[in-house]
Formats: sequence, C-alpha cells, structure tokens
Amino acid sequence: MSIKLPQDSHMLTPSFIYGVATAAFQIEGANNIDGRLESIWDRFCQQPNKVKNNDDGSIACDHYNLWQEDIQLIQSLGVDAYRLSISWPRVIQQDGTLNPLGVRFYEQILTALRNANIKTFVTLYHWDLPQHLEDKGGWLNRETSYKFRDYTHLITTELAEYVDSWATFNEPFCAAILGYELGIHAPGLTEPKYGRQAAHHILLAHGLALPILRQNVPNAQIGIVLNMNKSYAASAKAEDLFAELMRETLDNQFFIEPLMKGQYPQILNTVAPEYVPAMILEGDMEIISQPIDFLGLNYYTCNHNKFHTSNLFSNVKNTQEVEYTDIGWEIAPHAFEELLVNLNKQYDLPPLYITENGVACADTLINGVVDDEQRIRYLHDHINAVNNAIDAGVDIRGYFAWSLMDNFEWAEGYSKRFGLVYIDYQTQKRTIKRSGKAYRDFLLNRNHIHQQ
Ligand code: FCB
Repeated sequence: MSIKLPQDSHMLTPSFIYGVATAAFQIEGANNIDGRLESIWDRFCQQPNKVKNNDDGSIACDHYNLWQEDIQLIQSLGVDAYRLSISWPRVIQQDGTLNPLGVRFYEQILTALRNANIKTFVTLYHWDLPQHLEDKGGWLNRETSYKFRDYTHLITTELAEYVDSWATFNEPFCAAILGYELGIHAPGLTEPKYGRQAAHHILLAHGLALPILRQNVPNAQIGIVLNMNKSYAASAKAEDLFAELMRETLDNQFFIEPLMKGQYPQILNTVAPEYVPAMILEGDMEIISQPIDFLGLNYYTCNHNKFHTSNLFSNVKNTQEVEYTDIGWEIAPHAFEELLVNLNKQYDLPPLYITENGVACADTLINGVVDDEQRIRYLHDHINAVNNAIDAGVDIRGYFAWSLMDNFEWAEGYSKRFGLVYIDYQTQKRTIKRSGKAYRDFLLNRNHIHQQ
C-alpha cells in the first residue's frame, strides 16, 4: 500500500505545499517551566473524569526538551512545511508583557526550521487560553478579544522574520462550542448562549488581530483555520433534511459566513434565535469580515443527522456498512471532496490550505514496526479527494497531515493516536510508522517526477 496521485496532478508540482501539523498543548509538556502560566487545559485536566484516564499535558511528548530531535524527524519526512501553534500562556506574562524564555523557545524552533528550509505555518491560538483570562470570563468576556489582539501584537513583533504564514485561530467551533456549549473541552461550560457568544468574541479577536498582522508581518500570509465535517441527512424524510441543514448551519456556516459575508446565517434568526450571539456591537461584523489571504480547513469525517424535537438534530450512525476509525469517526473521503466543491460554490473563497487531515488508529509497536495500513489508505484516499476538488476548480494550495506524532488528544487523553510517528510515552522514543514512511516516499517520488 502506498500513497499515489495521477501523474498529471497539480498536487505533484513544487508549488503545492505538503506538511505535518501539531499544536503546543498537545506536544510540549513543561507546563510550569520557565514562567509558563497556567492554561485552561491545565485546569480542565485537573478536574476528575474530564479527560480519559485523567491524563494531562504536563509531559505530553516532552517536545519542550526534545524539539531538536523532532525537527530532525520533520526533516526526515521530507515535508515542505511544518504547522505549529504558539502557547499564549508560555509567551505572555500575567502583567501582559512578553516572557523572554517562552519567546526564545519558539525562536529557536523557527530558526532551526528556517535553516532546514522548512516553511513555517504558525497558529496563534490552538485552545490554550491563559487561565487568568478565563477567571475573568474567558471568551464570554469581550475584553479577551482585545487581550488576544495585544498578544498578537507582541509576539508577531518578535517572531515576524521567521514565519511564512500566520493563522489567528484554530477551529473556533471547537474552542467555543465544545468548550462553552457542549462542555467536552475546556473550560467545560454547557449553554448554547455561552457557546455562540464565545464564538463571536473569538471571531472578533481574529478580526481585531488582522490589521496588527498586516502591519507587523507584511510579507507573511494571514488567515484563520476552520474545521468542517460534511453533514448528511439520516434519511430522505423532510424533517431529517431539516436536521442536516441545521447541523450544517450551526457547525459550518455559523463560522464561515461571518468571515466571508459579515453576517451570521440568517436562517437562525427565524428558526433558532437562541443560537444567535446576544451581544454583537455595531461594527463587529465589519471587523470580522476583513479580507484574509488564506482559509485553512481541517477535515476528518462526515456526520448523519436525524430530526430531534428539542435539539434540532441528533447525530446518528450511517445505516450503510462503512469503515470507522479508532476514535469512532466514519471514513468518508468522498464527503471531503463534496464539502470542498460545495464551499467553492457557496463563497468567493480565498486560497485554501488543508491544515489538518488524519486518522486515529489503534497502533501498536511490534518489533520496532507500526504497521498502520488503515492510515496509509486514509491518506491516499483523502489526498486524492483534494486532487479531485482541485480538478473541479477549487483553489487549494497545500495539505498538512495531522499529526507529526501521537500526542495529547484533548478529552481522549493519550488513548488516541493520530501520528505519523509513534510515541512511547514511557521512554519518549519516537518511531516512524509505516504511514510516515509512505508519506515520505510519496513526497520523495513527487520530487523525482518533477525532476524528470
Ligand atoms: C482537531 C484539532 C487537533 C486534533 C485533531 C484530531 O479538531 O485541531 O488539535 O486534536 O482534531
């Protein structure tokens, strides 16, 4: 099994960027070293039974200490780019000034990547809000949006020269809805009105940061990363089609429409006004919808929806025989292609990057080998889905596999493995899985094809 594309694919030309992705809290560990402040995820992990096995991020992949080895790993995979995030509580102190030790950590990493000729895609917020800001209301407090703008200003001034692409936020849906509406992620609140207000303040923070980024990093690309799953109806019944529409509206359109069109989905005003953010000040939507250079999309799976009288929709399993991953997500590359093609019809999109795509497998290390055939197939099928979308006219410029290595999978702790590289959490030994080798061979081959 290998990863392959048609010989004439645009995705084999050198301008198409391939990378691997990680996020600070999921790999760094060292969460109270060198002046790093507490984050909402540190606090969430301390509450019993919020995270599987009560795992926490105190060690994770020990990347804070092993970053040099990890950059060699990235290099050995032959990728063009690395997507990482900066931990806000590591680089900004309680008084709002920079923490030089935290800044130094990222400066070293970014310098090493530059020296290795690897492009850097940096996300400013991958869910690790400083706890002291949560204590004042977190993303329910409009002030936090201004704090994000200040953090952006300070850190981009320091790191401007090292970074090719800046994303303000990773997946506002997860940060706001899983965190403040469904209670699955930190800080663990559970009201629609909280989730939607938090989402508005996150989008506002994105918009407030844009002019700062334009000024501080004029040569870099600037954008945001959204996650999207493709929604389907559980049956052809009209009420299930309604459920599909509501799921699509609440999960996807709620985030992309304000960015692209400066409004929340109008349908919510009539059908589900409780999902419209209560506090939108004049001018907010203009701030949110300023132009961006790229939109990052993270895709993993699709979902099926049945009408539900009190929830608008309920999530059900596909009635067809389909394959699921170790985290229970349906494998649906066709849905990925459909999603991309639809979005391109719905909006006048900026260039897209697939900033995350990958799969959790029940990987085992046997005699030094991790034989993750399912992941190779997944990557092959999804890379080809991207290729089909490009053929259908969607402007996609890059693809990042999630993830470089196994890591702290949020509420699932260390129980779910998404890496191209296997982590033995006892010894911190890294082993490239068969999928990592397949990705590397695919990238090597691409260079050969190009050189011919
Ligand atoms: C995405 C997150 C990423 C990782 C993958 C599996 O929602 O952005 O951090 O956890 O899911």
